[in-house]
Amino acid sequence: MILQRIFVVSLLAVLVCSTSSMTRRAEEEESFMHIVGPGNENNHGRSMLEKVTNFMNDLITSKKNPKQRIFNVDDFGAKGDGSNDTMAFLEAWKIACKTPKSIILVPSNKTYVLKPPIKFLGPCKSKLIMRIHGTIKASSNMKEYEKDPRKWVSFEQVQDLTVDGGGTFNGNGKVWWESSCKINNTKGCHTSGAPTAATFDRCTNLRVTNLRFLNSQQIHVGFQRCRNVDVSDLTVIAPQDSPNTDGIHVSSTEDINIKDCIIGTGDDCISIVSGSKNVRVKDIMCGPGHGISIGSLGKHNSRDTVSDIHVQGVTLWGTTNGVRIKTWQGGQGYAKNIQFVNIKMMDVSNPIIIDQNYCDQKEPCLNQTDAVQVKNIVYKNIRGTSNSELAMKYDCSKHDSCQSIRVENIRLFRHGDANVKSFCANGNVAVVGDIFPPLYCQQST
Ligand SMILES: *[C@@H]1O[C@H](CO)[C@@H](O)[C@H](O)[C@H]1NC(C)=O
Ligand SMILES: *[C@@H]1O[C@H](CO)[C@@H](O)[C@H](O)[C@H]1NC(C)=O
Ligand SMILES: *[C@@H]1O[C@H](CO)[C@@H](O)[C@H](O)[C@H]1NC(C)=O
Ligand SMILES: *[C@@H]1O[C@H](CO)[C@@H](O)[C@H](O)[C@H]1NC(C)=O
Repeated sequence: MILQRIFVVSLLAVLVCSTSSMTRRAEEEESFMHIVGPGNENNHGRSMLEKVTNFMNDLITSKKNPKQRIFNVDDFGAKGDGSNDTMAFLEAWKIACKTPKSIILVPSNKTYVLKPPIKFLGPCKSKLIMRIHGTIKASSNMKEYEKDPRKWVSFEQVQDLTVDGGGTFNGNGKVWWESSCKINNTKGCHTSGAPTAATFDRCTNLRVTNLRFLNSQQIHVGFQRCRNVDVSDLTVIAPQDSPNTDGIHVSSTEDINIKDCIIGTGDDCISIVSGSKNVRVKDIMCGPGHGISIGSLGKHNSRDTVSDIHVQGVTLWGTTNGVRIKTWQGGQGYAKNIQFVNIKMMDVSNPIIIDQNYCDQKEPCLNQTDAVQVKNIVYKNIRGTSNSELAMKYDCSKHDSCQSIRVENIRLFRHGDANVKSFCANGNVAVVGDIFPPLYCQQST
């Protein structure tokens, strides 16, 4: 309801060519409090407002662009009654993709079950919009995923694609979480094999906006090998204890903006991994979850590169980590030119972490001399509360220590004035302005 209201408000705002982002922000935060409960669908009570919203939306689109053709999935036989609607969606895509200026419409107030793997393949004739008002739901039969266990819905090699409409992708992930070896080790391990709910692969000029992602099997939204991407106004919700359910995962993608999102899941709100460059993250509410992560990089002696990442205006809320860079020993490549600016921490267990000795496996990691270089990193204006004693950790490699780390205006406290401290090893860290807890770095010899 409130999200819909925000949507209408923002539509009106677009109409009068102005935005009052401050009030909208406040409303988003308010709405966050309402949705963080159980990750349930809430279709009741949103129909009237939604109809108005949808009507306005379609009106605007058709006025702007009178020749736009609309392909409603219902006209291709979609039922939205829990049966298999895969064929109807693929048929609608096939025709829309061949038709200039087309819109694929997924009506509101219905839940369409799509069976895996469902692939929307480009290139298409011209700009294409997939406008999802209703809910797209995943099958919970794990056997159906055997063909491609890593994907549920994917958009591949599409140019100039927009996916929007205020609707929902529901990954129906419970069966996957229960059989994850992080939850139940007796059934064998599905953790690494669980599907990403929505994958965008090799897309350019892509816009993904105004959508909800619920209870994904594993990662909620993944971008890989994409160029020129705008992501905004996403709400991503899964239970805090659902394993590996990252919110937004960015891999080998360049020039991507992610803004105005509310993310609360069981893993990283946003994770950025190898091959990614020019990533801007702005105005994100994150929690619960594992925070904003760069990496891990350099696993199995790989060469990984991540550069030019700007993270600004993030509020982290009860997360296990805040802003984190993690690299394995023995890797190569770099994580460089990275800024974390204006970050608010509320009860975050490990607010700031650089870990060049990351080791996320049962066996101890071997000491190795190669390291992924961590270079030119800025932490500026970070304040709030830490949930553990160690508020800042710069654990750099003995062999290839962190270079040019700048830490400026940090104030991290604990409730009840409990003790709080920093750790720094082998870091080349410049401290500027007010820093609490105090930070002293031992240089490697
Ligand atoms: C769902 O429909 C698609 C398209 O007709 C088909 O390929 C697929 O096998 C169906 N899946 C199930 C589990 O019925
Ligand atoms: C929307 O769903 C409700 C039941 O949840 C139903 O009563 C109503 O008629 C539906 N509206 C449309 C337009 O399908
Ligand atoms: C784990 O899975 C096994 C095999 O399906 C089942 O017998 C057991 O009850 C499960 N344990 C938990 C804690 O869910
Ligand atoms: C790695 O080196 C550290 C000290 O530098 C030592 O404490 C640790 O046992 C070593 N680990 C292995 C697996 O060799």
